[in-house]
Amino acid sequence: MSRHLKALIGPSILNSDLSKLYEESQKLLDNGADYLHLDVMDGQFVPNLTFGHPVVKCLRNRIKDAFFETHMMVSNPEQWISPMADAGVNQYTFHIEPVNNVEDICRKIKESGMKVGVAIKPGTPVSEVEKYISVADMVLIMTVEPGFGGQKFMEDQMEKVRYLRDQYPLLDIEVDGGVGPATIGCCASAGANMIVSGTAVIGSKDQAATIKLLRDTVQKAIL
Ligand code: DX5
Ligand code: ZN
Repeated sequence: MSRHLKALIGPSILNSDLSKLYEESQKLLDNGADYLHLDVMDGQFVPNLTFGHPVVKCLRNRIKDAFFETHMMVSNPEQWISPMADAGVNQYTFHIEPVNNVEDICRKIKESGMKVGVAIKPGTPVSEVEKYISVADMVLIMTVEPGFGGQKFMEDQMEKVRYLRDQYPLLDIEVDGGVGPATIGCCASAGANMIVSGTAVIGSKDQAATIKLLRDTVQKAIL
């Protein structure tokens, strides 16, 4: 694997105490998070609701320089591109399942100054997302059904990660859902380099140690 790939850990604050969104986010960054993975849900694409660009903008006002990725679990991702860019988002990751103009959306995201992530649910074949690699900066392979934190890691999704890593040695590949110390080995050996972890990091007694363990495991697999 290439030494140009970086191991990056992006905790998800979904299962944290959201009344303390800023404090929880800052704590994760102080404990070594490389970026923040912000789960945006609209109650349509997934059966859950979280927060949108007004909240992200407030968080950005308090945290000036961290890399923010929004994971858009929404049925109309095009609608939120410009509000999220205005809120200070660095990477806009959206699901390709509900849209038929993926390339257009990728172009609009780039034009608004954000990086592009394309995401697939567990039931979507990897070939569906492979088509868009040339117009995206990152691919997200979901390792749970999107919608809720704290679900069980789906190891069968590693086949997709392995396939992409074999074909695209330099591609940023993110995994999300049920990832923690118990499952990071699978993710790292399959070739994922961007790691989202929610409950495993939030619930850990020593966040810094958990984040470091996740990063070290991925780093070893990259070298
Ligand atoms: C699931 C979200 C994930 C999730 C991660 O819909 O996209 O980001 O909250 O949390 P854990 O690590 O607890 O599965
Ligand atoms: Zn997510």
